[in-house]
Amino acid sequence: MSYQSHYFQEAREAQKRAYAPYSKFKVGAYLKAKDGRTFYGANVENAAYPSSICAERSSLVAAIAEGYRPGDFESITVTVDADKPSSPCGTCRQVLKELCDDDMPVYMTNHKGELLESTVAELLPHGFSGKDLE
Ligand code: THU
Repeated sequence: MSYQSHYFQEAREAQKRAYAPYSKFKVGAYLKAKDGRTFYGANVENAAYPSSICAERSSLVAAIAEGYRPGDFESITVTVDADKPSSPCGTCRQVLKELCDDDMPVYMTNHKGELLESTVAELLPHGFSGKDLE
């Protein structure tokens, strides 16, 4: 399933839930599972800054806690208020690699509605995974 305009609206809705009192940089994520179920994610910051969690991981963690497993996901849409569409951080790329198919689309957007489309593997080329432990 390719990008649909309501993904953007949903990611913007998720972004409203961000808790970002320190950076003021609110990020929203809209994760869609292959069975149609969807999950919101938002960044949740902490006074001890490294304890913060990004929107992308927050949506994935919510889904896993609901019983979803690696390979169950269809796409993720992320949004920020910035000149350029959002770009998942390195840690989120690694977690996407762990839980999502390599060819899963990652839709990056911003408040202007600009869209950048990539995939998990494109965002983390030569990525490390469980296969490397075998
Ligand atoms: N952040 C995300 O939630 N996702 C990203 O892709 C990049 C960064 C958050 C982490 C922190 O709360 C704030 O944005 C500023 O880095």
